[in-house]
Amino acid sequence: MEDLTDMTWPPEPIKTERLVLREPEPRDRTAFIELLASPQVHTYLGGPRPRDELEREMPETPERRPGSFVVDLDGSMIGQILLRRAPGHSRPAAAGKVDLGYLFLPRAWGFGYAVEACTAALGWLEEALPGEPVVLHTQSANVGSMRLAAKLGFTEVERFEAWDAEQWLGMRSPAAPSS
Ligand SMILES: CC(C)(COP(=O)(O)OP(=O)(O)OC[C@H]1O[C@@H](n2cnc3c(N)ncnc32)[C@H](O)[C@@H]1OP(=O)(O)O)[C@@H](O)C(=O)NCCC(=O)NCCS
Repeated sequence: MEDLTDMTWPPEPIKTERLVLREPEPRDRTAFIELLASPQVHTYLGGPRPRDELEREMPETPERRPGSFVVDLDGSMIGQILLRRAPGHSRPAAAGKVDLGYLFLPRAWGFGYAVEACTAALGWLEEALPGEPVVLHTQSANVGSMRLAAKLGFTEVERFEAWDAEQWLGMRSPAAPSS
């Protein structure tokens, strides 16, 4: 996936009712490692990365790049949202389009944080790149992610087999209702 190189970055932190979306800071390093090493978070994402490898390789300030937001609740990272351009070898309907990804720490699941944070990130994108469609990939077995996609206004483009599982590709046009 490519960065959103056409963006002005970083944006001002984005505040929602309960959350802040902001750039990664050195204090987020432990939460990033927790997120990337969590088997629960990676159930439908091809498995977690080894914690010792992450401890070695994670820079002091986790990677900052356009479209990468830390989701902060009361000063602590609870998740990450990624908006990136899908590479040219993606499914034809997705290639070159902005792709939404999200990872939240299990202790923060089930409180509506993902809906709140993704809605804010999509709102920011719509201001920055008006009219830009957004795609979303998830395994269809990932019930929480499928439900989130529907709540955000993504509709099915296609299902396909990859990595031994059924994958779902959804798209959200700016005109589509967001709930
Ligand atoms: C998918 C994920 C982001 C959902 O986060 P969340 O904070 O629990 O989501 P929300 O609380 O905002 O819930 C969004 C909707 O999905 C539903 N939902 C969330 N997890 C669910 C689950 N496991 N089963 C059924 N519904 C679920 C919620 O009930 C809510 O719908 P509702 O308002 O109609 O009840 C989170 O589970 C996660 O980080 N998973 C691991 C990473 C991942 O798989 N990412 C997807 C690949 S891009």
